Amino acid sequence: MSESTSSDATARGCHIACIMDGNGRWAERQGLERIAGHTAGEEALADIVRAASARGVGWLTVFGFSTENWIRPRREVRHILNLHKKLFGRLEELNENNVQVRWIGRPFDERGSRTPRYVQRRIRQAISDTAGNTGMVLTVAFDYGSRAEIARAIRKASQFGEVTPTTISAHMYAPDLPPVDVLVRTSGELRISNFLLWQIQDAKVYFTPKTWPEFDADELDAAIALI
Ligand code: FPP
Repeated sequence: MSESTSSDATARGCHIACIMDGNGRWAERQGLERIAGHTAGEEALADIVRAASARGVGWLTVFGFSTENWIRPRREVRHILNLHKKLFGRLEELNENNVQVRWIGRPFDERGSRTPRYVQRRIRQAISDTAGNTGMVLTVAFDYGSRAEIARAIRKASQFGEVTPTTISAHMYAPDLPPVDVLVRTSGELRISNFLLWQIQDAKVYFTPKTWPEFDADELDAAIALI
């Protein structure tokens, strides 16, 4: 499969957001434990980061862990947290691809934040070690919920003055995150699940029956083709 295709011109600078669903189902189909599906999902994500960056995608935002995911079995949560550590630790690869890492989610110092310190450290490290990169911006949503993000933005906007779409936008977790061009959801689920509700206002949506570990560069091209 080629790393660069005719979709390059369309892809340039665009914002793709992914709800990476179906890891558990993928694993079950292979006769593996669910957590093996998350491991495969992290590897699929690393491949998609490379492919998206090669196509000139400007912004890739992925739903790594929702505020609702904490209720999953402890072992599964620990495994997913370790995979975030792994992803944020892929610094050589990220730097080679000129990828800048960012994070959105419940601020670590906010009441209710449950992000362990070792994950916080990895996130901060990855952000600072890739801050000089000028290529694709990879934003990982971790301990993220969109309604909480919007409620917080409205609260902040009202503290400082008028509440308008512009002032709300200015108080989102990442105010410079551009509108999403295509929202991808894998594994045949036709739902948005509280992801980037503010930013997908005018997005195309790419639903695919493939599970996230099966989501490859051809799938990415099909999503980009919707733009
Ligand atoms: C949905 O699969 C996926 C998640 C809850 C977590 C997403 C995590 C990864 C893709 C791992 C790597 C990503 C990062 C950012 C390190 P599911 O378990 O809900 O699948 P199912 O619907 O088949 O049960």
